[in-house]
Amino acid sequence: ILIKGHAQNAFQANYDESKVPPYTLPDVLKTTGNVAVKSKVMWEKIRRPEIIKLFEENVYGQMPKSYERLTYSIKNENAGAMAGKATLKEVLIEVVNNNKPVKINLVLFVPNKQKKPVPVFVLINNRGKNNTDPTRAEKSDFWPAEMVIDSGYAIAAFHVSDLAPDDTAKYVDGVLQLYPEQLTANNGMRAIGAWAWGASRVLDYFEKDAAIDAKKVVVVGHSRGGKASLWAAAGDQRFAMCVTNCSGNTGAALSRRRFGETVGRINTVFPHWFTKNYKKFNNNEDSLPVDQHMLIAAIAPRPLYATNASKDLWADPKGTFLSLKNAEKVYALFGLKSNLNSDPPAINQPIINSQLGYHIREGEHNLTTFDWSNFIKFANAHLKK
Ligand code: GCU
Repeated sequence: ILIKGHAQNAFQANYDESKVPPYTLPDVLKTTGNVAVKSKVMWEKIRRPEIIKLFEENVYGQMPKSYERLTYSIKNENAGAMAGKATLKEVLIEVVNNNKPVKINLVLFVPNKQKKPVPVFVLINNRGKNNTDPTRAEKSDFWPAEMVIDSGYAIAAFHVSDLAPDDTAKYVDGVLQLYPEQLTANNGMRAIGAWAWGASRVLDYFEKDAAIDAKKVVVVGHSRGGKASLWAAAGDQRFAMCVTNCSGNTGAALSRRRFGETVGRINTVFPHWFTKNYKKFNNNEDSLPVDQHMLIAAIAPRPLYATNASKDLWADPKGTFLSLKNAEKVYALFGLKSNLNSDPPAINQPIINSQLGYHIREGEHNLTTFDWSNFIKFANAHLKK
């Protein structure tokens, strides 16, 4: 099968369920020393850190543990935005390390009616900057800010290019300048690690903004941005909830199924996304010490919402659902119920009342108001308690 719209066809994508090879997932509740994990204490103290380390080492790269300084300035503030419904803040967050700065431009709308502090959705924007227009002259389903404000949440966004341009040649022009050792290390982070790191710096800012409830920050990402939102939430337990929209390979979908996009394909077309080490697993998924259900599990006990689109087989909807299913037993350690059935739900039938939430939307690979309306319902069910 030639992949329509994709330049590289060296890796043939399988879309035939009967051709999914047999596979065994690494047991999320067994330590690398083969000891069964039976309590949440053991999970938190031993297994979860082990899993984060395995993803750092093999997939997303080291996450820098510190920086020299973070400052911010409000570039523009308008208390009468959205016809008086919201306060707009355009915030420049500057992070310095190794004497070099990285500048994150945050667009933030806070609802005026709500009692402060308010919970917030922050989007890792991997598409055009016009999707998050602070003037609201341009509106986009990709970031339906008015709808989120009407639901009583703040909404924010930053663009991935502020952290690492999404370009094989230019991705080093950003966070990687602050941590040059990453560039030579086999487990050095690349663009997706840099975007996730950026989400945590935005959270650092939220901790200083009295209008925002920094204990209720939802990190949202679509597709490549959804790979980053997962990695951000897995690594940084301050995120209260995670949304991963159509994130596919090396996002929420199981790599071992080799359905749609594969590890070899993603590493070839996007060599600037993951570690050098990850390339060892091209056409070699069975030797990965992780699979993506373990990334979902690292988010436990926090609520996680994943989505797919019916026509987006490239992102392997079934493999995404199975990732969530295979993370359930970690949520169960915390006494948290997942109400996912054994099979994926029907199209446009969201599962909201479950610590692991999920839907398949009718249509193409995208982030739409249907998706967002369910993120809001899911947050209402899990963050307002
Ligand atoms: C490509 C890529 C995916 C990615 C997607 C996107 O299709 O292969 O891994 O998720 O782009 O970001 O939209």
